[in-house]
Amino acid sequence: MRLKQFTESKTMKLCLVGGARPNFMKIAPLVRAIATKNKTNERTQINYKIVHTGQHYDYDMSNIFFKDLGIPKPAVFLDIGSGSHGEQTGKIMIAFEKVLLRGKVDIVTVVGDVNSTIACALAATKLHIPVAHVEAGLRSFDRTMPEEINRVLTDQISDYLFTPSSDANGNLKREGISSDKIYLVGNIMIDNLLSNLKKAQKSNIFENLGLITSSPGASIKDYALLTLHRPSNVDHKESLREIIGALKEISKEFPIIFPMHPRTRKMVTEFNLEKYFNFGKNKPQVPIKLSNSIYALDPLGYIDFLGLMSKAKIVLTDSGGIQEETAVLGIPCLTLRDATERPITLAQGTNILVHNDKKRILEGARKLLEEPKRTANCPKLWDGKTAERIIDILYEKLS
Ligand code: UD1
Repeated sequence: MRLKQFTESKTMKLCLVGGARPNFMKIAPLVRAIATKNKTNERTQINYKIVHTGQHYDYDMSNIFFKDLGIPKPAVFLDIGSGSHGEQTGKIMIAFEKVLLRGKVDIVTVVGDVNSTIACALAATKLHIPVAHVEAGLRSFDRTMPEEINRVLTDQISDYLFTPSSDANGNLKREGISSDKIYLVGNIMIDNLLSNLKKAQKSNIFENLGLITSSPGASIKDYALLTLHRPSNVDHKESLREIIGALKEISKEFPIIFPMHPRTRKMVTEFNLEKYFNFGKNKPQVPIKLSNSIYALDPLGYIDFLGLMSKAKIVLTDSGGIQEETAVLGIPCLTLRDATERPITLAQGTNILVHNDKKRILEGARKLLEEPKRTANCPKLWDGKTAERIIDILYEKLS
């Protein structure tokens, strides 16, 4: 039996691993849940260490999330940086294995589906250290997505699989994973959303972007919010041009706010497409005067982005988590992808898949904007308590 019981120790040592922007939002609720558990339970204290692989290294892609979400400074920073998939994954494994060999770790917790997730899960399991995977079981069934490979492999080697929704349990069972490893706990991203929404809606990003004036009673102007970073959308000039064609049409109705991922920024320059964007500043001294165009900003922090998402007329995205967040907020969401690993957002949420096809994007936008506003919808267990459930389970099993 690989899972150790820690009867000899009164401290449970947990290693929380993150590397890329979407990971840190999932680590924050775990940190809060551990603090609560430690206050209420004296039998065993949970001693955690955050390891940041450095897959994302720009301030806007990483550090601002620690600040916004109150996550303590990582105990270890591996400083891996960018690289090809093999190179990045390999470098993370080599560096993380050394961390694991330096001291006792009772369990490694990985989140999401990025290269850091599979690399750290693999390094840990080969050292016979149990692995917990938060956000297990999601499948797009599209193996050309690097994240799909990361998801399938991480789930195969994890000991505790924490799933956000029942479709994920079904996927894992079909892949032969034993039910006693699978725990339906809900969606950890929603823990953050619910605990930060009020603060986010008071963010001064609305004034900074000229979406509202400071006069009392002024209402927020209509705008669309856009994120785009998937290689299938931004690494090919034709796909990017097709998407820009649709955006130009939508921006005739209202401005589009576009915090631009570094990958996308690089490709826009390489393909000479900069003329289609209005390169704004995130924090101008004088609020920008919005006209109907596509405003490209640096990537935003969690609080500012959540605020903008919660008041948008419509969101266009190729991200995974944003499909879930818009579902809970009741904000119409157009996903510029062929497939989603989060089908519950199509069935119960506000999401439509439109690929990167101009005609489908415009039809989808029209459909969502003409529909009566949908009410916010929370699938089962998307209630803000997912991290508490995860920590309770690990505590019961390991202490
Ligand atoms: C990664 C994740 C993806 C996640 C996304 C969120 C994988 C396979 N992909 O994709 O699942 O949705 O992060 O952001 O793990 N760059 C910077 N600064 C940074 C990070 C990246 O300039 O801090 C640039 C580099 O030029 C790099 C490019 O962006 O080559 C792409 O970054 P990379 O981490 O390789 O993949 P993402 O596209 O960010």
